[in-house]
Amino acid sequence: MVIFKNINDIKKYISLKKDEERSIGFIPTMGALHAGHISLIQKAKEDNTLSVCSIFVNPTQFNDKKDLEKYPVSTEADIELLLNAGCDVLFLPSVNEIYPDGDSNFKTYDFGYLDTILEGAQRPGHFKGVGQVVGRLLEIVEPDNLYIGQKDYQQCMVLKKLAPMMGLNDLNVIICPTAREADGLAMSSRNRRLTEPQRVVAAVIYQCLVSIQSKKQTAQFDVVKKECEDLLAAKGFVTEYVALADARDLTLLSNYKKDTPMVALIAARIGDIRLIDNMLV
Ligand code: PAF
Repeated sequence: MVIFKNINDIKKYISLKKDEERSIGFIPTMGALHAGHISLIQKAKEDNTLSVCSIFVNPTQFNDKKDLEKYPVSTEADIELLLNAGCDVLFLPSVNEIYPDGDSNFKTYDFGYLDTILEGAQRPGHFKGVGQVVGRLLEIVEPDNLYIGQKDYQQCMVLKKLAPMMGLNDLNVIICPTAREADGLAMSSRNRRLTEPQRVVAAVIYQCLVSIQSKKQTAQFDVVKKECEDLLAAKGFVTEYVALADARDLTLLSNYKKDTPMVALIAARIGDIRLIDNMLV
């Protein structure tokens, strides 16, 4: 695996690989890698002749400074995991490399409705930061295929919108299934901050999603939603949202809708750790 910290160096390398007609699969990450990330690397390797991963904890997408300070960093272990997975290239830039004159000079994108609901509403400015950094990384890496995990469903929709906004009409945004622990907890870099007792109850989010999915023929969503909120509270979670939406555009739904692809989404906090998950319904 070749590691680059500098934009000019990685751009030169990628340009040479493009001359060799290599197809580039790109996996942007913020590090603290887990099996979910590795499944994205594997998929990128299957589909492409060059896999490029980036590790960059992007300050502009953290609306909460404390969340940024506590974001887990494990670069040595990440490199080891990437080597074992057979990743070809790692881009590991500093904040100054990505935002040399602060972040204000770099393009941001307006995701409209998607920025006003759920994660957009709970984390003002978050998607502006995600769009900014992914836009910047896409300009540097120029991939053919972009791999992201379904765990961040709304982010997937934002990035699907970003590609055409940037004029990257040939870029394929490939959404890969959420990797889960044996008890159903969605893999997330933030899970490593859970205490043992918190970890034991954390799968309740998954159980709620399964319950929302399994009751779609027989129940009213508001009743199931209340059951979920009560269950989350009983396990020590503070719920931010339990929502049902049209899976195609995230239009929020007040009840299950026949013949409509739906997605259930939950965000909840335990202690100072915020977890999100979703499931197609
Ligand atoms: O999902 C993440 O890890 C980040 O939001 C991303 C896409 C790498 C942008 O910083």
